[in-house]
Amino acid sequence: MPTSRSFYIETYGCQMNMADTEIVLSIMHGAGFIRTETLSSADIVLINTCAVRDNAEQRIVGRLGDFNHYKKTNPNVIVGVLGCMAERVRKELMELGNFIDLVIGPDEYRKLPALIEAADSGEKGIAVKLSRIEKYDDIIPFRTDVLSAWVSIMRGCDKFCAYCVVPFTRGRERSRSLVSIVSEVENLSHRGFKEATLLGQNVNSYSDGTFNFADLLVKVADVDKKMRIRFMTSHPQNMSDKLIDTIASRDNICNYIHLPVQSGSDRILELMNRTYTRNQYLNLIGRIKKIIPNISLTTDVISGFPTETEDDHKKTIDLLHEVEFDGAYTFKYSPRENTKAWQMGDDVPEDVKNRRLSEIIDLQRNISLRRNKTMIGDTVEVLVEGLSKKSVDEFCGRTNTNKMVVFPKNGDAIGDYIGIHIERVNSATLFGTKTGHSLPQFVILTA
Ligand code: SAH
Ligand code: SF4
Ligand code: F3S
Repeated sequence: MPTSRSFYIETYGCQMNMADTEIVLSIMHGAGFIRTETLSSADIVLINTCAVRDNAEQRIVGRLGDFNHYKKTNPNVIVGVLGCMAERVRKELMELGNFIDLVIGPDEYRKLPALIEAADSGEKGIAVKLSRIEKYDDIIPFRTDVLSAWVSIMRGCDKFCAYCVVPFTRGRERSRSLVSIVSEVENLSHRGFKEATLLGQNVNSYSDGTFNFADLLVKVADVDKKMRIRFMTSHPQNMSDKLIDTIASRDNICNYIHLPVQSGSDRILELMNRTYTRNQYLNLIGRIKKIIPNISLTTDVISGFPTETEDDHKKTIDLLHEVEFDGAYTFKYSPRENTKAWQMGDDVPEDVKNRRLSEIIDLQRNISLRRNKTMIGDTVEVLVEGLSKKSVDEFCGRTNTNKMVVFPKNGDAIGDYIGIHIERVNSATLFGTKTGHSLPQFVILTA
């Protein structure tokens, strides 16, 4: 098999998928393939897909149309669909058109080189078995970033929220060993990385049989005090007091928790199988705010879950008022085949879903703005990440609390920790200038 062929890959979906693409890159490089950033020079075209909502899948179907077009003029090109959509709609994908050569689910990436070889001789390849043990523990992800790293600490999900396809596309929950994660973070530290984000669908239900997530977080944070440790996504059910104390106990564990609530109505939460009540969630938020006063919190909300009434919606709105999240990711309910909620139909009309969603978005935007405004006049520590999107004269970076900050370039380098005085804000970004002196709290990270 000629091994100097080039491959092109696009990634959709969540951070877990981004991290998986880095594993795929490693496997492909190991087999001698060379990555290209342009579709038009690729011998192999891969797309790592998401199936979480219908609109995610529709976007991918549209993109596959482009690949089909490309293959028409380049018939020897191999097209491969990877990831969650490959897992969910394997047969339909194979039937979608003759142009798709490979369909490979999230637990079968090791087979990629062999299936490409088979495809070269005209065989269609399908590998969608979910595994109870695959963690890609021995594969060092090929990272393109040099500052910030995704570190998958577990795979799959056992929660089976009624609306969600992830347990079907990613299979059963399994955690990597603490030792292998810590050694990966040590390696990142030696290579000069400044940030590691521990990833899992429910990072805080991590367990390798001996250690839980709080244990892991301490060990990872102690590898390198100058390295920021982030983690996502946390599930309210597994947010133990010990974990909250652990986050508070280390300066380099970021004061930021993404804690999806999904709905403020007990009736809907129960139907969603979320395993907590509104009150339990609010109490948890209260405990977190008390133990970590500077905490920044974000959430996910689904609007228009089957049977959701105006009253249920109002309870979500009230909860957003009460918690005052720093940000929220909001989604219109999308029915997914085979999930429990699929059988409940999709009875909230589209226009009602849209209106509720925009009420949630408008409210949250105001709350985010209000929260950001309280930071005007503060000096915050920022890790310089790169140029801002709008100007080559500005840098951007994030605070420990995950807020994006934009500031004029001033002799600093990417990867530096600097103090920024916040002068103005909008609901998504803080703007400021560098301070002449550093504050005592920076000493820990910059010393
Ligand atoms: N494991 C994480 C994230 C899962 S997917 C968690 O439990 O929070 C990210 C978000 O997509 C979910 O939090 C949920 O808000 C949203 N989502 C998942 N399935 C959905 C569906 N069928 N329709 C609309 N939103 C959905
Ligand atoms: Fe989906 Fe629920 Fe698992 Fe999150 S916890 S991935 S929403 S089933
Ligand atoms: Fe999408 Fe799969 Fe992630 S469905 S959100 S890519 S786990």
